[in-house]
Amino acid sequence: MTENQPAISEDAVIDALRPVQDPELHRSIVDLKMVRSVELHLPEVNILIALTIPGCPLKAEIQSRVSEAVTALPGVDRVNLEFTSMNDAEREELRTQLHGDPASTAGSQPAHGHAEGRAIPFADPNSKTRVLLIASGKGGVGKSSVTTNLAIALAQRGKRVSIVDADVWGFSIPRMLGVDRPPVLIDQMIIPPEAYGVNCISMGFFVEEDQPVIWRGPMLHKALEQFLTDVYWDEPDYLVVDLPPGTGDISISLAQFLPRAELYVVTTPQPAAQKVAQRAAFMADKVRLDTKGVIENMSWFTGDDGTRYEIFGSGGGQALAERIDVPLLGRIPLVPKLREGGDDGHPIMAVDPESEAAQAFAAIAERVDVELAPTRRYNPELKIL
Ligand SMILES: Nc1ncnc2c1ncn2[C@@H]1O[C@H](COP(=O)(O)OP(=O)(O)OP(=O)(O)O)[C@@H](O)[C@H]1O
Ligand SMILES: [Mg+2]
Repeated sequence: MTENQPAISEDAVIDALRPVQDPELHRSIVDLKMVRSVELHLPEVNILIALTIPGCPLKAEIQSRVSEAVTALPGVDRVNLEFTSMNDAEREELRTQLHGDPASTAGSQPAHGHAEGRAIPFADPNSKTRVLLIASGKGGVGKSSVTTNLAIALAQRGKRVSIVDADVWGFSIPRMLGVDRPPVLIDQMIIPPEAYGVNCISMGFFVEEDQPVIWRGPMLHKALEQFLTDVYWDEPDYLVVDLPPGTGDISISLAQFLPRAELYVVTTPQPAAQKVAQRAAFMADKVRLDTKGVIENMSWFTGDDGTRYEIFGSGGGQALAERIDVPLLGRIPLVPKLREGGDDGHPIMAVDPESEAAQAFAAIAERVDVELAPTRRYNPELKIL
């Protein structure tokens, strides 16, 4: 410290810590009452931070954010950080601060009308979150790949984006998005883990990958409801939902839970695929969801010589879009890197944004975000179920 520099105060350290956010809760660590004490022994500063849970997986990240903010102050050379963790009462207070009390939200009832517990925030007519359901008539057409890459593409446009992996039997989002740790629980509030700017929740966090999910309809309905209510979503701009293949119970449950959702149908280019894909749109119609667009996947393969090979034929996406009277939002090429990235948690949109496939996702994200932005408010009178 040089002589003409005024000595900083403990309050100045607290002020420097105000902009430091908890990496998952996206709130100031000062507001979250995580900063427990500050002692000045200039040029050293001792700080005690309370983590939300013992062994918090984000400790290292918090450590580097705090050190960076405080060493930037004049006269500080070194930050000595110590950690403790919140006790049960403090966690309960934090949960109430962030997520409210389950009982106190009973005034706005869940869409399916039972009064106990927390309401589904996305069913609220005033919710600012757009819910995008990614559907298909049959399996293996690329719903999960589209969900993951479209979510990242929207995040890259500066939006706050979350994913619900509603494919409870065939969950694949944690692996595709490269999330390798389970959610943190703060007093029963589930904090969805994040990768590439997108956070997600999946049945995959609650069962072993090689164990079958043998739950029956009512339990799955309940599990999905819990995904929507007990997770701390914090009003993202987009909630992208990866549906299971086909038009079964899960999709119907979600339509009930999320009456304002927009449906997007993924299909492959062969003309014969449209009939099956169309079922997803018919289902949406029956449960009064809006189908907004078609995304064609595996549309062509570009050979080393630059030639496009339409391996699965062509025209399927366009034909489906015309038949159900929505736009074809884009066509995504077949690229080995997209599959590899999905297998090992390096989505092409994040790791190779200049590639042909990533550019296709970026263009689709732009159309969803700009062209399909809602122009009028949701009318709750029209919600029937
Ligand atoms: N455009 C593409 N290029 C190359 N591989 C792709 C492409 N789209 C998807 N794949 C691969 O095809 C397989 C199926 O894709 P994905 O899991 O996204 O489909 P899905 O519709 O979610 O399947 P399911 O019905 O089983 O949930 C995956 O291995 C994925 O990596
Ligand atoms: Mg899938």
